[in-house]
Amino acid sequence: MLLLVNIILAATLIWLACKYFDLKQSLSPSENRFANLINSVSSIIDVVEGYKKSHSKEVADIAIKIAEKTSMSIKQKKSLEIAAKLHDVGMLMVMNDVIKGRHKLKGEDLSLMRNHPLLAEHYLKQDAHISDEVPTIIRWHHERWDGFGYPDSLRGEQIPLASRILAIADAVSSMRSQRNYRKKNYKSDQDIINELKQQAGLQFDPFLIKIAVSILEQANIGAEEN
Ligand SMILES: [Fe+2]
Ligand SMILES: [Fe+2]
Repeated sequence: MLLLVNIILAATLIWLACKYFDLKQSLSPSENRFANLINSVSSIIDVVEGYKKSHSKEVADIAIKIAEKTSMSIKQKKSLEIAAKLHDVGMLMVMNDVIKGRHKLKGEDLSLMRNHPLLAEHYLKQDAHISDEVPTIIRWHHERWDGFGYPDSLRGEQIPLASRILAIADAVSSMRSQRNYRKKNYKSDQDIINELKQQAGLQFDPFLIKIAVSILEQANIGAEEN
């Protein structure tokens, strides 16, 4: 009898799960297509920038983990996720050898590269499917807490929370990858944690760095236990 009840229960759960996925597909096919398109564009950006792994998606994953520990709304987190996946879309309009750091950037090349947040903002604002928050978050993803970033040299909390989170997530994922323009290599998440702590209050928001460090430490503990 108990076995029969369990079988009926399991069959009901499977039926409900199937209905849920059917409903999800039928209710939002355009949303799914939009999400797929964002993922495809983010993969193209990664290839153009010379990343050997899925950098933009990793930035989005880290950014959302940090955002979960703040008071951001679901809508703001969704905008942050899209902004993270498209954060360097402006780089598609920058010359290939400039992007890949084949030579030290100076003069015109440097200003061209530093324009990529503005290029992204300009083009994304024209897309009716993308919320206005997304280009705004991207515009300020290279600002620094100490005011020495670009393009607007904003300082501290003048930089929107989502852009501050994106800056940290981008840095963590970038430090996990081999980059031509960087002399220093980070062999482990512990090296990255040390770097983040050094940059708290300089490049990054010190409060958000505490959150990011605790997330990375938890992930390290999880990896060691497995
Ligand atoms: Fe960027
Ligand atoms: Fe990036």
